[in-house]
Amino acid sequence: MSKTKYISISSQKGGVGKSTITTLIASHFHFTTPLKVVVVDCDYPQWTVENFRQDELELFKKTPEKMAEFKAFGKKAYAILKCQVKDAREQLEDLEGAVDLVLVDTPGTLNIAGIPELWRKLDYIFIPIEPDAATINSTLAYTDVLRHYTNQPDSSLKGFYCFWNKFVKSEKQTFFNQTEKIFQEEGVTLLASRLEQSVAYRKSEVRSTMTPMRKEFYHLGIKSLIEEIQAIVFPVKEAASVTEPA
Ligand SMILES: Nc1ncnc2c1ncn2[C@@H]1O[C@H](COP(=O)(O)OP(=O)(O)OP(=O)(O)O)[C@@H](O)[C@H]1O
Ligand SMILES: [Mg+2]
Repeated sequence: MSKTKYISISSQKGGVGKSTITTLIASHFHFTTPLKVVVVDCDYPQWTVENFRQDELELFKKTPEKMAEFKAFGKKAYAILKCQVKDAREQLEDLEGAVDLVLVDTPGTLNIAGIPELWRKLDYIFIPIEPDAATINSTLAYTDVLRHYTNQPDSSLKGFYCFWNKFVKSEKQTFFNQTEKIFQEEGVTLLASRLEQSVAYRKSEVRSTMTPMRKEFYHLGIKSLIEEIQAIVFPVKEAASVTEPA
């Protein structure tokens, strides 16, 4: 096992897709690669990812054929560990060497105790951005702060990357193009992947914590995002290839 990698899909803006995308990525790596994955859910008191899991378990209880399908799949689900942000660093340290990839889901606000300690323990932060001015301004303020924690002697943080979520292809591209220009001027890296706005992301079977994402949703941009994240977090030899589930 290589060194444990710690990442977070994080933003100081609420509702931009942090928990949904965390789940999609965790399920992908856990169910379709040999990597050992754990999600640390620090989204107190919502516990969104843990709630996704509990809702699914309830659904499985009521739908035996879904449970049978999961059992036939033959891989146990990954652990979701609940903790508050103030305890996150200790939780992450406990996982060192025991798993390959830890994804940390954070609350919609980052003005809470323990956040700087958490940032220092993460390897990479990926920031979903929505096409609205408030999100863009808040993201630029966030990346300004993150810069102080990147590549510092007391910090593991090696980089932070933004990417579009809820992207609408049919919308005029002016806003996107202007934003991309501002990000470039500010030295903030924007990934090429754009996750499309789609009701599919609201469906429990798409952002499942118990089964891999279904192949038919890959065209919405998630496959490309996973490939970009994988290339950053597990460069070259460390990478397990991104395989599409059959
Ligand atoms: N690409 C998308 N297209 C459509 N809906 C989306 C997309 N991504 C996320 N959503 C929806 O947006 C809502 C907010 O998503 P989510 O809970 O993942 O955001 P969050 O950033 O974790 O929120 P919070 O700040 O409350 O923790 C959910 O209803 C989710 O299904
Ligand atoms: Mg959330």
